[in-house]
Amino acid sequence: MKLLIAGGAGYLGSVLIPKLLERGYKVDVVDLFWFGNHLPRQAGILNKDIFQLTVEDLEPYDQVIFLAGLSNDPMAEYSPSKNFIFNAAAPAYLGYIAKIAKVKRLIYASSCSVYGYTENELYDETRPVGSSYPYGISKLQGEQAVIQLVDPNFSVISLRKGTISGYSPRMRLDLIVNTMFKTAMKDRTITVNNPSIWRPILSIEDAATAYIRAVEANQSISGIFNLASGNYTVGEVGDLVKNAIEERLDTRINLCIKHIDDFRNYKVSTEKAANVLSFHPAGSVRSIVNNLIDNMDKFHDWDNPAYSNIQTFRQIENGIEVHDMVGAA
Ligand SMILES: NC(=O)c1ccc[n+]([C@@H]2O[C@H](COP(=O)([O-])OP(=O)(O)OC[C@H]3O[C@@H](n4cnc5c(N)ncnc54)[C@H](O)[C@@H]3O)[C@@H](O)[C@H]2O)c1
Repeated sequence: MKLLIAGGAGYLGSVLIPKLLERGYKVDVVDLFWFGNHLPRQAGILNKDIFQLTVEDLEPYDQVIFLAGLSNDPMAEYSPSKNFIFNAAAPAYLGYIAKIAKVKRLIYASSCSVYGYTENELYDETRPVGSSYPYGISKLQGEQAVIQLVDPNFSVISLRKGTISGYSPRMRLDLIVNTMFKTAMKDRTITVNNPSIWRPILSIEDAATAYIRAVEANQSISGIFNLASGNYTVGEVGDLVKNAIEERLDTRINLCIKHIDDFRNYKVSTEKAANVLSFHPAGSVRSIVNNLIDNMDKFHDWDNPAYSNIQTFRQIENGIEVHDMVGAA
């Protein structure tokens, strides 16, 4: 089976693609390489924008996975217009040409951000969505555009992911557990911006597993699926990261609890993914911290702007050269 992964050179793709190759899939990546190239050499490379792809380009593929776009709120707010183009129009265009090219399935990287601010109820995929911020709105627009393309010959699976954390060869330290880990190691302090806010947390290993389940799901399966390893308050995440580091590294970490308002608050049910995709998460905050400790020697230059999407994106927008795109790992 041949797969095309748009945005596959990013944080999630750099963990997912080695696993897909290991399972015998042929994988090509189309990417703008904003964060460099940390992919195995067996992955085929198309260094271009999704909008430059044609129907002919997509004909060789059985499935297409969309992992591209501006992948967090700070990037989306820095450039709302680019956010709506890359997060909403790009998946719509990709889905449109993939279907004409007779690709059998599109898997779309959605986000639990679409739920916005909810009042401490467990949300399944039938619950109303309600974001009023550029990132959440655009992720929903992308999802709606591709989901309505479903027909018996074209499956669409949309994975609404909680915040991913853990180690990737394309590292990010701007994701909740990874950020707490960074400041704990660097400053011996974890800052909790609002301890009562709920967040679904997804280990990067569980995220990759979910994409594999989606690739391997029966052709008749389409739909929207929440994904999380677990739902936690941010206060609990802070405690769990602190305890896991203290136990494993025999050190003391301080907690700094603040009460800053947040516009995202949600916890999600993952029952549908379990029942339909056979997705059973194995990760937890503790397993994420252990995974970070195991790989720490590869990313302990804590303030490297490459680990912060918004810092790298600002440099790109200002025309500053950020890395050598061909430097494959
Ligand atoms: N990381 C998370 O916690 C999380 C949570 C929920 C959803 N998501 C979604 O999952 C996807 C992957 O997230 P990530 O953390 O791996 O992102 P990332 O920012 O690390 O990677 C995105 C990649 O897409 C590429 N890209 C962007 N626009 C492109 C375009 N028009 N054409 C070609 N390539 C393009 C970039 O160069 C980059 O390599 C994103 O769509 C994101 O919105 C991520």
